[in-house]
Amino acid sequence: MATLVTDLRDLPAFDYTDAELHGPRFHATMAALRGRGWIASTPLGYVVLEREAASFFLRTRSAEFPGMKIAELFAIEEGPLLEEMRRNILHLNGDQHRRLRGLVSPAFTPRAVERWRPAMRSFLASLWDDVREAGRCELVTAFAKPYPSLTIATVMGASLADAPRLHEWSNWIQRQFDPPVLMSERPRIERAVEEFYAYAGELLERRRRTPGDDLISQLIAAESEGDRLSDVELVNLVLNVLIGGVDTTQSQLAHALRLLAGEPSQWAALRADPAGLAGAAVEEALRFEPITPFTARILVEQVEYRDVTFPKDTIVLVSSFSANRDGIANGERFDITRGAGAGGAAGASGTGTGASGTGASGTGASGAPPRLLTFGAGVHYCLGANLARAELQEALAFLAARIETLELDGEPVYEGVQGVYGLASLPLRFSVAPQE
Ligand code: HEM
Repeated sequence: MATLVTDLRDLPAFDYTDAELHGPRFHATMAALRGRGWIASTPLGYVVLEREAASFFLRTRSAEFPGMKIAELFAIEEGPLLEEMRRNILHLNGDQHRRLRGLVSPAFTPRAVERWRPAMRSFLASLWDDVREAGRCELVTAFAKPYPSLTIATVMGASLADAPRLHEWSNWIQRQFDPPVLMSERPRIERAVEEFYAYAGELLERRRRTPGDDLISQLIAAESEGDRLSDVELVNLVLNVLIGGVDTTQSQLAHALRLLAGEPSQWAALRADPAGLAGAAVEEALRFEPITPFTARILVEQVEYRDVTFPKDTIVLVSSFSANRDGIANGERFDITRGAGAGGAAGASGTGTGASGTGASGTGASGAPPRLLTFGAGVHYCLGANLARAELQEALAFLAARIETLELDGEPVYEGVQGVYGLASLPLRFSVAPQE
């Protein structure tokens, strides 16, 4: 007979809300937890630490992302934020979700995102021009922050001059997932949603008159089995792309460069073959330091897993950080050459399965490396995984072709691991490659 999860004895406790949980202390905490088993208790529920368990809770139809639970807990009962929460694709399930995903996914297949690569390269070139001479920069301000918002502005068909505004809106709206900030800054978040709706509404009107080669024009034209998006659905999907696609890529790029700057031999390996190894370097950064180290699920019905009964309404955190290390030899080591010699396996998943929306499975088949859980798994598998990978690959290949030596120029300033795990600051020093 299955044991009730609340009756499990001696579960280690994990305080996910600890504000000091980042950097080396975070790694040590997670390694110690994983050493004690596949599950730990948290102040609000449980966290699962193993790849197979993580995959199970992300994929089961008995669980949902607890977005509307947050609305309920914080008494968000009216206003633009409630409207946004109700329409967020991550909060929708079943047929409603399937329908929207079917209409938007064609814009984010590996092939569809290829056409944004030239724009990415031109943004990198102009950001590089601003720091090249100095031989040092604060990477977050100089590259990581402007680059994804310029890319998303291009994808959306917005003016590049609006990229800083888009960044700010994205940043505020994203904070709905950070409970303390949601509590203290709700009016600012509400205003950001309202301003974005007005902005995207105008853009939609313009694109209706003059279609272009952008996401909004594509969504206006999108049709599947005679079904079309309403204006409200369309604006909300664009909002989801904006809030999903800015802080995330920014943070992952900053961590990737922090890791590479901290290990001269890894940078030298990337420099020896920037175009060839950028894909593998991106996969390893996503595996080793996922900027979504946790996501959450709430059970909508009772679930039995591994002889344990989880009652309805249990909150389960899923740790991609821990799951990504499962079954990986020396998984605690950052190694971009991992997989070389096994058919370039580390980079092979770079082409991903995002388009199908059914990402990571439990373990890799036919000798392939186990799939990452950084982009989630199941029907809510990250819509922008191919776009994020392309941005990160372009950035690493671009910088590795131009920077000979790369070092930390001071201590990185870490943000918290709750929500999107970013860096507030990353001071770097570099020497420019002779052929540059
Ligand atoms: C390194 C960068 C990124 C990471 C690590 C990341 C991570 C994730 C994760 C873990 C999920 C699933 C959450 C869950 O199931 O609980 C997700 C969903 C999503 N992501 Fe990303 N993301 C990234 C970049 C992007 C980009 C560039 C976009 C822009 C298109 C984007 C848009 C979305 C959307 C719209 C969803 C919801 C999908 C759905 O509910 O069907 N993400 N992302």
